[in-house]
Amino acid sequence: MYSEKVMDHFSNPRNVGEIENASGVGTVGNAKCGDIMRMYLDIDDSGVIKDCKFKTFGCGAAVATSSMATELVMGKTVEEALKITNKAVMEALDGLPPAKIHCSLLAEEAIHSALWDYAEKNGMKIEGLTKPKSDIHDGEEDTKEEY
Ligand code: FES
Repeated sequence: MYSEKVMDHFSNPRNVGEIENASGVGTVGNAKCGDIMRMYLDIDDSGVIKDCKFKTFGCGAAVATSSMATELVMGKTVEEALKITNKAVMEALDGLPPAKIHCSLLAEEAIHSALWDYAEKNGMKIEGLTKPKSDIHDGEEDTKEEY
């Protein structure tokens, strides 16, 4: 059902954790399944992503897609990271079962949410970036029930 790459990133997820004083932090949640993903970006003065970490409270596909998403954004500029779609994440993982496509969407939205936070903190506008609908503001997730 799952590709070897998905199983690898699920069993051995890359870049799990937090970044203290991150340039941008984004948290997104899927209203239907209740899974939550948080992405931390460390961005240097020239707009290049130097580090990326994540925490995912969710299904295996959500863990694998967020792990792959961190690998894809690392070293990219903000503009390049914005172009990383859930399709690109899925392709990098050699595909996902149709029922799990929404999990990869969460990874794309987590990147966008962290970029949105970075832009807000720096009073800038990133061309083409909109705030993800699944964005969870700070504190809101604390009111959610545990899954
Ligand atoms: Fe919802 Fe995977 S089942 S993110």
